[in-house]
Amino acid sequence: MKVTVVGAGHVGATCAQRIVERDIADVYLVDIVEGLAAGKALDLAQAAPLIGHSRRIEGGTEYGPAEGSEVVVITAGVARKPGMSRDDLLATNGKIVTAIVEQVSAVAPGAIIIMVTNPLDVTTHIAMQVSGLPRERVMGMAGALDTARFRAFIGMELSCSARDVQAMVLGGHGDSMVPLAGYATVGGVPVTQLIAPERLAEIIRRTRDGGAEIVGLMKTGSAFYAPSAGVTEMVASILRDEGRVLPVSVLLQGEFGIEDTFVGVPVKLGAGGVNEIIEVELSEDELAALHASAAHVRETVAAWERLKDE
Ligand code: NAI
Ligand code: 2OP
Repeated sequence: MKVTVVGAGHVGATCAQRIVERDIADVYLVDIVEGLAAGKALDLAQAAPLIGHSRRIEGGTEYGPAEGSEVVVITAGVARKPGMSRDDLLATNGKIVTAIVEQVSAVAPGAIIIMVTNPLDVTTHIAMQVSGLPRERVMGMAGALDTARFRAFIGMELSCSARDVQAMVLGGHGDSMVPLAGYATVGGVPVTQLIAPERLAEIIRRTRDGGAEIVGLMKTGSAFYAPSAGVTEMVASILRDEGRVLPVSVLLQGEFGIEDTFVGVPVKLGAGGVNEIIEVELSEDELAALHASAAHVRETVAAWERLKDE
């Protein structure tokens, strides 16, 4: 099993580390900056005897070694600085992603693509358009991260293990994301029975602003530990055919009443990529919020269509 990770920055390098150190697959790390991916890959390879795994990890600037990859994770691009929205990255990252997917498609045409670069739902749309792959094989990682943040904040609020918190955040990866309080449970108990409505509203707000809170603290970049953990869950579920149910940005074609838009919804992830889209029941307000989020993604895709040839 081989995974290619494009972009050896914070998210990409941490994804590579998690994938080899969890013994999920061998990794080829690519970056446009000469020596960056090769250097980080060598460093990670030298950690192998200490960590105790036998996975191969190599890095470079070329796409040839990506041949034969089952999964390609794309993290390349620029990250936000304080005051920027994810959509502010569109012009730069849209062009970077287009060029990368062309190169990936030439050497690993059958690989499943997991997009990470922001603005996430739009770069995933671009990846599908450029690769020509079916929707089962092109997806975006964001819901796993947003859901992990929601779970972590609920765990902090109740001073309980976040492992026992189950929750779901749907929608686009941005201010319009849709945390579903009604589906959140702690050890099977609905959180609505454990947390007062005004505190829950505050946790939902903090979840929506979770990325910006970290950018504001770090000032020079954005989150990467939890994002890389989200990617790793998806990669493991695909390569091990685990059938995990995770929110993933996927092209909707009528599900939830949404057409031709990438947006985060619960899916079952296995050997073929997206094996099933799970149409959970939503309240009127939740469905309206999901539709508003999808409308925002469509507007950003339209902005990209105007920008891409400039
Ligand atoms: P970073 O700046 O640390 O790393 C980006 C890397 O991409 C750099 O090493 C850069 O040299 C490389 N790169 C740029 N252009 C390239 C090209 N044409 N080919 C190959 N490599 C290229 O940024 P970081 O923190 O790793 O974030 C990466 C992206 O992921 C950003 O767009 C960020 O907003 C996004 N992100 C998305 C998340 C999500 O939930 N979907 C979560 C966290 C980050
Ligand atoms: C985040 O939510 C930057 O989108 C990234 O942290």
